Amino acid sequence: MSVLPIHFHPDAVLRKKCETVTEITTDILTLLDDMVETMYDEDGIGLAAPQVNVPKRLIVVDVEQREKGEPGTPIKLINPEVIMKSDNLTVLDEGCLSLPDMRVEVARPDSVTVRYMGINGATQEIHATDLLAKCLQHEIDHLNGVLIFDYLSPLKRNIVLRRYQKNMRHAGDM
Ligand code: NI
Repeated sequence: MSVLPIHFHPDAVLRKKCETVTEITTDILTLLDDMVETMYDEDGIGLAAPQVNVPKRLIVVDVEQREKGEPGTPIKLINPEVIMKSDNLTVLDEGCLSLPDMRVEVARPDSVTVRYMGINGATQEIHATDLLAKCLQHEIDHLNGVLIFDYLSPLKRNIVLRRYQKNMRHAGDM
């Protein structure tokens, strides 16, 4: 397994509508393993394939890592989609590995059911609440080219993006 480089906003790959995976090849399985390793290396709770420059509908998540402080059981999801969501929205302060140092308060359903294909090719469903529900929605957003600042009003988005661009320029100086 290897750690892959993360792509940052404004890389165009992050804005693509990702392709459906039609066949589970060894390349796909290797990519999923590498995504898990990259997620742990970056101390993230989720990662989507476009963040490592692959515009395919693949995500990995492990929220136990954050809750317990050590890696739990990573979930690898192929072609995930939200098939049910609660009417009740809650706000979470979210970050993203492709947006270093940015935090955005995002209101999302607090529970969802996600259907996906597992690595064995079988269709599966997860009913998720709390942090896992938020994480799954955040990662599925990536597959549709959606980033957390898209949820902000134009005014707030400008402020957050100006600060981000400034930080990224400084990071580039070092
Ligand atoms: Ni993200």
